[in-house]
This record gives sequence, structure tokens and C-alpha cells, in this order.
Amino acid sequence: MIKFLDLHKINNRFREELQASFTQSLDTSCYILGPNVKKFESDFAHYCGTNYCIGTANGLDALTLILKGYIEIGKLKKGDKVLVPANTFIATILSVIHADLEPVLIEPDPNTYNISVAGVEAALTEETRAIIMVHLYGQLADYESLETIAKKHNLLLIEDAAQSHGAISNSKNIKAGNLAHAAAFSFYPSKNLGALGDGGAVATNDKELFEAVSLLRNYGSNIKYKNEVIGHNSRLDDLQAAFLSVKLSSLDSDNSRRRFIAKCYLREIVNSKVNLPSYDESKNHVFYAFVVEVENRDAFINHLNKNGVEWLVHYPVPPHKQEALKRFSHIKLPITEQIHKRIISLPISPVMTDEEISTVIEVINAY
Ligand SMILES: Cc1ncc(COP(=O)(O)O)c(C=O)c1O
Repeated sequence: MIKFLDLHKINNRFREELQASFTQSLDTSCYILGPNVKKFESDFAHYCGTNYCIGTANGLDALTLILKGYIEIGKLKKGDKVLVPANTFIATILSVIHADLEPVLIEPDPNTYNISVAGVEAALTEETRAIIMVHLYGQLADYESLETIAKKHNLLLIEDAAQSHGAISNSKNIKAGNLAHAAAFSFYPSKNLGALGDGGAVATNDKELFEAVSLLRNYGSNIKYKNEVIGHNSRLDDLQAAFLSVKLSSLDSDNSRRRFIAKCYLREIVNSKVNLPSYDESKNHVFYAFVVEVENRDAFINHLNKNGVEWLVHYPVPPHKQEALKRFSHIKLPITEQIHKRIISLPISPVMTDEEISTVIEVINAY
């Protein structure tokens, strides 16, 4: 059986360091916003190249607190429209709703699955105040074109970098997290940088936003029992922060291995029934997911199951067709709907062996 993602194997590589972090945490007993959160925030800001990083409880909160932070500092107001990709994980859209803003769903470019720049331009109105670009499956969105639009129309540009830790832009050599006004990360265990539980972070160069989000994630308080704004309890757990600092040192090599596997798949999977993703072989993709398209997904799934290759679908139902978002269900999003019927993700992870890679390729070529 080839696992889709072997989390035990991924984290077992760091067993001794993780255990040492736990022992240290047990001994120092600073469990909430302790030294490990401070250290990880500094490590991760340095890694992304941003001035600031604020640890949060998860990726959804990181996005929500960015938007609420902008409301606090007067750069957004209740009801403003925020353009978001229609084919994202639901969290991107939920964050806009949680912040009392109005999401406007934009179709993707079918070649990259990332938000369509033409779609963004066509959707702009007087009420548009922000764009959230998701670097979906680990591949950077067309941030340069989106930055041009944002500058021209005085919009905030926000990155949902939950799937793209360590991706680097081709032209400017800048990392995900430092490509817009603010960025949100998730450290959900399956992510390229994953905790051993929930975790998230905001990265930004904006001091005002940094201060607002720092308050918001901690009950609106910088000084104990002094509450300045209506805050959340969304602190990155100190132990998870310690684990993340350990794992951060291997992020670049893990991403290289993911790219190596992707290149093997792209070179060696030869099957006209399986459409492979577009990739320019650069570091602007960190292959959180390797997503192929097939006409008859059920038949393909049967074949993978019979041959012991695990798979996932990112994601089986588009957000606007979810019960929770039924007020958007009337919107016509044919590209998004078509993609959701055809996509399937193949195993890709830094701990896959060369033999496992070859087996996946053989199985797919035999389909
Ligand atoms: C694109 C995207 N945005 C946001 C999130 C939310 O992150 P979390 O699950 O940590 O809240 C995720 C991951 O789950 C994601 O994939």
C-alpha cells in the first residue's frame, strides 16, 4: 500500500528533537505565548523575509484576523467586497464571512487552478476593497498581475499561503508570505510545514497590522486583564511552536524532494487518459498536492484502489455547493464545477521512496 501521506514517517525523522522540545517545555512550563512562540515567530518571519510574524491557533484564524485587523486599523469596513477564488478550501471564504465582509467568488485559470486575473478584473466594482490570492496546491498565483491591479485600484492584496510554505517567486526571488500586504499560513499536520496539531501564522511587513493582529489573537490584550479591542483566543500553542521551529530547518529540503517527485511524475507518467498539471520546473511550486485530471474519476479511483495507491480529492465539492454556503449556490461557476468533478491528488511527500514513486508511475501508466 502506498500511503497518500505518511505523517508518522514524516515526523519520526525529528523524533529526538521533538522529544527534547517536549521535555524542555515540560521543564520550563511556559505553555501560553511562551519563549517557543516568540522564537518561532522570529524564525518564520526571517524565513519568509517579512518584518513580522504572529502565531495563531490555525490557518482559518490567521486569515480572519488579517481581515479583522484591517477593519481595526480602518483599511476595511463591514460589508466591503473581497475577491476570492471559487475553487479553494472553504476556509478562505469562511474567513471573509467571519470578518463581516462579502466574498465574491472568482473562477480559476484552468491551467494553474489559481485565481484568474481576467476574472478578477471583470469582477471589480466600487465596493471591491481586497483580493485574497490562494497559492493553490503549492503553486504561486500570478501575484505580479494581481499586485498591478491592487495598486491601480487601491486594493489590499492578501496571500492565503496555507499550501505554499517556501514557494519562491521566479522574477523577484521572494518567498510566499512576502508577496503581498499580508499572508496567512496554516500548519495543519499535512501541510509542507506541519505541526503535530493545529497551528497558523500571519506574516506581514505592515507594523500597524502586526500590532492589530497581535492584539486580536490574544483577547484584544497586550497587558494581562487590559482589553483594548474585541479579541479572540487564537494563540499558537507554545509546544507546537517549538515543534515547528525544529521542522522549519527541513522545509527547503522537503520541498526539493516534493519537486523531484513531481518532475518524475511529469516525465514518466505517459497516459492520454491522465492530464498532468502545468509546471515550469521552478521553485514557485512546492507541490503540497500533485493534482491530475481524469475524465472518469470513479474508474481511475477503482484502478488506484485495486493497485494499493492511496489518493485524495482536493476538493470533492466546491465551496459554493456546500450546504453552509448555499446562499452562493445559484452563482454560475462552470470551470470550478468542472474541475471538482475531474481532479484527483496523487501521493507526494518528502518521505516517499524512489521505489514508491516508480510504483505510482507504473500503476498510472497501466490505467
Ligand atoms: C487554502 C487553505 N486555506 C486555509 C486553510 C485553513 O487552515 P487551518 O485548517 O489550519 O485552519 C487551509 C488548510 O486547511 C487551506 O488549505
